Amino acid sequence: MADEINISEPVEIAEGVNWIGFEDKSAGFRCNPYLLVDDGEAILFDPGSVQHFPIVLSKLAKLISFDQISHIIVTHQDPDLCGAIPKFEELIYGVGGSARIATHTRASVLVSYYDVRSEFYCVDQEGWKLTMRSGRELKFVFTPYMHFPGSFMTFDTKTGILFSGDVFGALSFDWSLYANEYYMEAMKAFHENYMPSGEIVNFAMDKLERLDIKMIAPQHGSVINKNVAGYIDTLKSLECGEFLDKGGE
Ligand SMILES: [Fe+2]
Ligand SMILES: [Fe+2]
Repeated sequence: MADEINISEPVEIAEGVNWIGFEDKSAGFRCNPYLLVDDGEAILFDPGSVQHFPIVLSKLAKLISFDQISHIIVTHQDPDLCGAIPKFEELIYGVGGSARIATHTRASVLVSYYDVRSEFYCVDQEGWKLTMRSGRELKFVFTPYMHFPGSFMTFDTKTGILFSGDVFGALSFDWSLYANEYYMEAMKAFHENYMPSGEIVNFAMDKLERLDIKMIAPQHGSVINKNVAGYIDTLKSLECGEFLDKGGE
């Protein structure tokens, strides 16, 4: 079925939650920043790379003014999600705003090397949660070694969306914003070589099974809005760490 969604605009995946990513037909490895807005307060998830900053910015600017951003949540320190932080900071602080970077302590050490200026909100030192001004609670789920030691996911208790970072992502040339019939296999292939071991993935999936997840919003690939339990179940029993068998000197 043709995708009737206009992906050149922000796409509201749930009330107040927008996908502000892009389609890059040349790259199978797409990045998905998201913006959550509640009662005027905005939270930016995994904002993206330097390369794709202009397009993410153009979408974000249609939704909010920069001083509304209170937190930038980054699941780990990779450049595909953190590279644009200083550029967003320039805009936020340029209009008199200020934000905090929410991440794990281990990741904060490395995120500092992007020359960021915001204070850190270290999720592991803040009771694994963030309460917005409206009272809305974001819960952080610690999923160590997926793929960084301090990796975590964010569960929005209001919408039931799990912002999952690299987990549940995929490299996919048959991309659509919402997961299609090709997505399960593409997701498996990505995890088999990108995640270190089945045991580590299983540990994380056990935690996710305890949450009432309605939708999964990963940093790569497609948004999973159907069969959430099926995707969790698939990862639960997946053999990972494939590169251990790839040879090399
Ligand atoms: Fe990563
Ligand atoms: Fe990533």
